[in-house]
Amino acid sequence: MSSSAAGTSALDLTDPTTFVRNDPHAFWAEVRDRRPVFWHEAREGRPGFWVVSRHADVVNAYTDAAGLSSARGTVLDVLLRGDDSAGGRMLAVTDRPRHRDLRNLMQRAFSPRVLGEVAERVNRRADELIRRVTLAGEFDFATEVAEHIPMGTICDLLSIPPADRPDLLRWNKSALSSEEADADPYAALEARNEILLYFSDLAARRRAEPGDDVISMIATATVDGEPLSLDDVALNCYSLVLGGDESSRVTAICAVKAFADFPDQWRAVRDGEVAVDSAVEEVLRWATPALHFARTATTELELGGQRVRAGDIVTLWNISANFDDREFDTPRSFRVARTPNKHVSFGRGPHFCLGAYLGRAELRALLTALVATVSRIELAGSPTRVYSNFLNGHSTLPVAFSAR
Ligand code: HEM
Repeated sequence: MSSSAAGTSALDLTDPTTFVRNDPHAFWAEVRDRRPVFWHEAREGRPGFWVVSRHADVVNAYTDAAGLSSARGTVLDVLLRGDDSAGGRMLAVTDRPRHRDLRNLMQRAFSPRVLGEVAERVNRRADELIRRVTLAGEFDFATEVAEHIPMGTICDLLSIPPADRPDLLRWNKSALSSEEADADPYAALEARNEILLYFSDLAARRRAEPGDDVISMIATATVDGEPLSLDDVALNCYSLVLGGDESSRVTAICAVKAFADFPDQWRAVRDGEVAVDSAVEEVLRWATPALHFARTATTELELGGQRVRAGDIVTLWNISANFDDREFDTPRSFRVARTPNKHVSFGRGPHFCLGAYLGRAELRALLTALVATVSRIELAGSPTRVYSNFLNGHSTLPVAFSAR
């Protein structure tokens, strides 16, 4: 690969520190212009992979589920190490036709009644948290607010008994290693096993005595005429934690950081000049919590003028698509009134985020609570970036709110 073309061989997209040390937007703008689909060379014994950068190509790739499979894994790191052990069993890493059946089943868990109740509780939770911190002077928005919203929401969705929640939260914190450069991988693995055992045990109890809740529903339903194994019920319950916790958390952090960075945009939302729902979409685009998702080609296919071979890994870079000026007017500006706003933060096609409604409800609750309580949002120190080539955002955000 030529290094003159867009410097595209200079940056290692497998390195979690790449975009902490380099400006991602300058890099991706050049890639989109000069090598919109390029082959990232194999490094240190790990295979090479395709990099897809333009909005239109990323959307096409997300929607081509027949040519691009999710079953070997959908995160680059996992694919470079081998296959995802949950492949064919957990919704996000399953292909049609089983994916469709499993998704229909999981989708039923998100009925309007369940979602309505969960959203009501999110509103109350966000309101209480924001009222409390607004009186606190300087505080870390990540630990005081953002951390409490998504897991509370998922626990409500799954009707996790209140007494079990502290354990689940503790395991989940150790299972996530992206916030610490020196996290212990064995402790993380052990915590993940604890979570799976917990869900498997809960699923067994709810299968024996079903209630009117999401886990009972998944535990008693059939896919292809067969009930799911308890391990698979557990895996799919855990997938809601995996899908919904970190992504929502970094997006909430990004929302507050963006409002501190662009006070005129905050004032437009606060003063009701721009609808909260419009601001939510711009926050989602600006945050792009998942930098990429990945697929494996099932057959030879053409993508952005390149010939992809069966078995090749293909990475779809949301962080590039969401800032593509072929799709967005002045993409590097944070504009809460932006319309249209066809960001790919929730993906597209058959694997489109199952929790998009809830993710949006959480952000809407946060912004509504801020509007009700807060006049000014100011940074009170330097935020800490997450080291990851998958999760985008910050793990701490020192701020101060002034009350309205
Ligand atoms: C801001 C918040 C969120 C963002 C940015 C986000 C992003 C995404 C993206 C990009 C995908 C597509 C992955 C792919 O195509 O391979 C996805 C799938 C998924 N998300 Fe989310 N997500 C969010 C919140 C949630 C929440 C709250 C939940 C659960 C309560 C959730 C559960 C899932 C699940 C289960 C899938 C797999 C769907 C499938 O394969 O059919 N997500 N999410």
